[in-house]
Amino acid sequence: MSDTKENSSAALTLDLWTYSRGEGLVCSNGKKWERNRKLLTPAFHFNILSGYVSVMNEVVDTLMDKLETATTDGKSVDIFPFTCRSALDAIVSCSLSYEGNFQDYQNLDYINAIQRILEIESLRYSKPWQMIDSLFYLSSTGQELKRLCKTTTDFSENIIKTRTKDLKCHHDLKEKRHLDFLDILLTARDEQGNGLTFEEIHDEVNTITAAGFDTTACTIGWTVYALGLWEMVFQDVCGVLGDETDIKTKHLGKFSYLTQFVKETMRFYSPVPVLTRRNEHPIELDGYEIPTGCSINIQSYLIHHNKHVWTDHNEFKPEWFDAENRDDNAIYGFLPFSVGSRNCIGQVFAMNEVKMTIAKLVKKFEIVKDPDHETDLRPEIVMRPSNGIKVFLKKR
Ligand code: HEM
Repeated sequence: MSDTKENSSAALTLDLWTYSRGEGLVCSNGKKWERNRKLLTPAFHFNILSGYVSVMNEVVDTLMDKLETATTDGKSVDIFPFTCRSALDAIVSCSLSYEGNFQDYQNLDYINAIQRILEIESLRYSKPWQMIDSLFYLSSTGQELKRLCKTTTDFSENIIKTRTKDLKCHHDLKEKRHLDFLDILLTARDEQGNGLTFEEIHDEVNTITAAGFDTTACTIGWTVYALGLWEMVFQDVCGVLGDETDIKTKHLGKFSYLTQFVKETMRFYSPVPVLTRRNEHPIELDGYEIPTGCSINIQSYLIHHNKHVWTDHNEFKPEWFDAENRDDNAIYGFLPFSVGSRNCIGQVFAMNEVKMTIAKLVKKFEIVKDPDHETDLRPEIVMRPSNGIKVFLKKR
């Protein structure tokens, strides 16, 4: 896969995203993407991410309480809606310092709108006529999408406007609880001293919430689904945390089997199953020419199941990712966060959140899959479970 800014740009199918998220990093291209990626990169610096760890602890603790309450009757529970709400709490609390309290069913309009937008977008990919904007926006679903986007836009605009006012009154950002993504967006300046416009900030906020919530929720969900092998994960977590209940930055790099486990989940289930690119120059492949402007789908799920790289690809084997077994040839055989200049800017954030959630979950509960419940892979923009993920959780 060639992924340089000279000969490819994100998307075609992602063009559909532009209406609901605006031209944030995922959808923008060329000079605009290049400038904004540079301006946003400091928001994902180690120090900023460390500031998020205590916020994530709180969010994950709430998740544990919610799961405990939901399973007191001893019945199995579909954990997927729970991981969705907690992932949304995590991204909004960390990056915008806004307490959305989605796990307490607050801001229901916003969460319902986000979820319905995702449903509509997935539907559009499977119905070609709906890809034509002029037809789609005449339909009742198109009109509904417009209304839903107004709800999400109003939500993020309010947060940005309030913060802009706060920053004008309190110049010293260090007084704040943690420096967050929104602070960085509002204060970033390029070489010419120009900052981002209100619209650009708004688009980046919408992009980060969308790109950072569903992907992480699915990864957490599939990791739990794969946790038949939880005993080794449990041992690893206990070895690192001992009696400590709060996870700190220093712990995150020490989880070894847990990290292998999460990576194998991302190989096996591929939370982002397809990447799309549009070629800006003709490409020759095996004697065929792909003309400029094509939408090229790169099937990460199939790459993750390429038997030339992953010999027994249908076996779930976290050991693939043991440092001793790593084969450098496998680098391009594993791209859960994509590779190259357009790789995922939030990957460390995501890995921290997934590891923290799973670590706290295995420490608190014994997890057993509900044998009477079946689910399957439902590939959309993210790889969803077709029928949720039902497990029994027994408090340790
Ligand atoms: C396990 C969770 C996640 C997975 C599997 C994931 C995966 C990906 C992938 C595959 C891409 C590349 C898309 C493409 O090439 O078309 C991407 C891009 C991106 N991701 Fe993530 N992501 C995750 C979490 C996050 C989080 C938590 C954030 C934000 C905090 C985030 C923000 C972004 C952004 C802004 C881009 C666009 C980057 C660019 O084009 O410059 N992602 N992600």
